[in-house]
Amino acid sequence: MSTVYWFGNRFVPQEEVRISPLDRGYYFGDGAYEVFRFYAGQLYETEAHLQRLWHTSAGLKLELPFAQEELAAKLEELVRRSGAAEGNVYLQITRGAAPRAHPFPRGAEPVVMAYATPVARPVAAMEAGIRAVTVEDIRWLRCDYKTLNLLPNVLAKQEALDRGADEAVLHRSGTVTECSASNLMIVRDGTVLTHPADNFILHGVTRAVVLRLARAAEIPVVERPFTLDELAGADEAFITGTTVEVTPVVSLNGQAVGSGRPGPVTRRLQTDFAATLPV
Ligand code: PDD
Repeated sequence: MSTVYWFGNRFVPQEEVRISPLDRGYYFGDGAYEVFRFYAGQLYETEAHLQRLWHTSAGLKLELPFAQEELAAKLEELVRRSGAAEGNVYLQITRGAAPRAHPFPRGAEPVVMAYATPVARPVAAMEAGIRAVTVEDIRWLRCDYKTLNLLPNVLAKQEALDRGADEAVLHRSGTVTECSASNLMIVRDGTVLTHPADNFILHGVTRAVVLRLARAAEIPVVERPFTLDELAGADEAFITGTTVEVTPVVSLNGQAVGSGRPGPVTRRLQTDFAATLPV
């Protein structure tokens, strides 16, 4: 069955999605995006994703052509039409099509495109854990905006794969920020540490859920930047994200993290996270 797209304010098959070669997303990466997850046919943490989309759009001075409730209804309809119980919704909005010139074009309409695809939960990685390597964070200074400019993330992810790992842990001169497509948390002496939600990281929706769960479980949480050395000496490490949920990191640059196996705090947070999912 062909994937259903929401495009031009209509539900259409992929063949009917027509993007202009003048689209500013294509030229400049001039646009915002979100990746939502749905479980049991229901979007997860919709409001948090929408709030972040509005935050990104405000930062990009990109006027969104719909209200939050309207958009949520369209995405829910996409999920319904996909016929899948579990999957991802990808949504992007560019500043529209106009002859190439850096200033915002006058009169261009934002181009919105979204689709839902069936994707299973990453059960094997969540069980066994993943390998990570450290990579210099060469991104700009507004990583809190979820924009289409993902080249540094793409390069970091590819470097991780080329070095035989699964994910890249990014750092600025030895201070760990996050990963190429996920947030990072470590556990030291029973305390969960993660970079504060400032301009150096994406304010992950999953990150926020997990911090809430940790606090509810009376696991101490400290949001502060930590160093590569603190990461290397951590008892546990795990990544959080819409597509990875809570996934243990069991090796870093080829060295075991803690025992080299998913630790008890990570396991507890995985269990508590699973309990928040719609059934
Ligand atoms: N990425 N940090 C970065 C750089 C990310 O790209 C993502 C998500 C996250 C986790 O955020 P959340 O919990 O809201 O998914 C953190 C998406 C899934 C992507 O680009 O595919």
